[in-house]
Amino acid sequence: MGMGTRGQGLVLGLGLVLLGACGDDGSPSETNAGPTTTAGSGDLTGGTAGEETTEGDTSPAARPNWHEDIAPLVAANCRSCHTAGSVAPFPMDDYEGTWPLGAAMLLQVDAATMPPWHAVETTECIPPAPFQHDARLTEDDKQLLRDWVALGTPEGDPANAAPIPEPPSTDLADPSGSDSMQGSLTIQPEGSRLDFFHCLSLDPGNAEDVFLDGIQVIPGNDAIVHHVLVYLDVDGASAAWPGGQVLDCDGGTGGVGNVRLAGAWVPGAQPIRPPEGVGVRLPAGARLILNMHYHAAVTGPETDDGTGVALHWTTDAPEYTSELMLIGAPGEGDLVDPPLLVPSGASNHVEAVEFDVPFIGAVDVRLWAVAAHMHKVGIDMKVSILRGNDELCMLQTPAYDFDWQRLYQYDVPIGDAFRIQSGDRVRVRCTYDNTLDNPSVVEMLQEVGLDQPQDVSQGEGTLDEMCLTAVGIAYRL
Ligand code: HEC
Repeated sequence: MGMGTRGQGLVLGLGLVLLGACGDDGSPSETNAGPTTTAGSGDLTGGTAGEETTEGDTSPAARPNWHEDIAPLVAANCRSCHTAGSVAPFPMDDYEGTWPLGAAMLLQVDAATMPPWHAVETTECIPPAPFQHDARLTEDDKQLLRDWVALGTPEGDPANAAPIPEPPSTDLADPSGSDSMQGSLTIQPEGSRLDFFHCLSLDPGNAEDVFLDGIQVIPGNDAIVHHVLVYLDVDGASAAWPGGQVLDCDGGTGGVGNVRLAGAWVPGAQPIRPPEGVGVRLPAGARLILNMHYHAAVTGPETDDGTGVALHWTTDAPEYTSELMLIGAPGEGDLVDPPLLVPSGASNHVEAVEFDVPFIGAVDVRLWAVAAHMHKVGIDMKVSILRGNDELCMLQTPAYDFDWQRLYQYDVPIGDAFRIQSGDRVRVRCTYDNTLDNPSVVEMLQEVGLDQPQDVSQGEGTLDEMCLTAVGIAYRL
């Protein structure tokens, strides 16, 4: 399913690339240095542009240009993904590879679909603090890109090149330990069944008790991995699993009881690194249980031969104990009456879940992160804290996209993070569009060979729906 989207996205992108390469009418051709200055770019323009232009047309003084203005912008904001071998379909590593994309880049940037970032302020939601790693471009950067495209994507003079910042890493920094699955798992549809839940046991590799304060899940094949939940198996009971696996473990932990949720991966996720002073004890001999939700590709078998984790830990006990909680439906705070149901044809269907915050008795409870999780029918999600008559908004994702979920972390020290009080309730509001106007509904129906929306009910399968938040809580007892 993910591949399908990407394929279509790329076709659209390339369509725009061609437009860009031909130069749109507004661009003064004498500054359209792009096609002329570099060997190889003629392939993209049919070869004629290069012959028609002369040396002077490269206008090295034109600003903004690639070397002085755009290369640093792209390195800082795009190349963490748009680099050779990374998740995005085309690299933006150099001028030759990037100038033909100018118009397509601008389209995505103006529509705020690139860089992907979904936690935005709305008329009904101003979160209590900014989020870390906010990927949105500043208005100045957007303008720079607009001006560059309007000028015909000039290259400028490499002699004047601005320093290029290192693209931000999407990996956990300085891991203390890591492990990955033994062997491999092949996932393929079984009749009409597409969703599979398998549990893996991994060894964090700590010889003594340590405090886990960073975790990155590295999915082995993101064409089929729908989510990964990482549980701390405190007693290391899963060490006894043959081959390190329990197949068909449903949403659970393969029969192991003493567990706590420590991390999660969903499409678009980044490593989880709680604020300084927040962590959870990882006893010597403990294991990690990964609950893997695979969604089989209808195109045929796909293999996961390497899902793993990278971990960061400290030996000093942190001030706050960290806990990740899933709140919503299905699960804690489950809707009982009536259960979640999104009728076919409903374009603005709302479900809401409320949940009493636990940890009453802890002296200091903080909220350090929050995430939105729905499946393909969901279009908007809001997570708030209800306190008396007030509704305090923590996160809203009004352009929700299944492919771009992440745990949004507030950019404040833990002592300044939102403080949860006794009596607070979490409210999760989910809005769904179960019509053909919702492109991900169309995609989901195509996958199963249907052409009309169906009633969608609550469940963990990719074609069911959820209304779930993950919250990062830290507390001192
Ligand atoms: C977090 C990773 C990430 C970052 C950062 C990112 N992109 Fe992307 N981009 C992707 C992926 C993955 C795709 C493929 C389509 C999809 O999955 O949405 C994509 C697709 C695109 C497309 C093609 C869209 C289409 O459908 O034709 C353009 C253009 C684009 N990105 C521009 C940018 C620009 C410009 C920046 C920086 C200002 C940027 N991207 C930053 C991951 C990223």
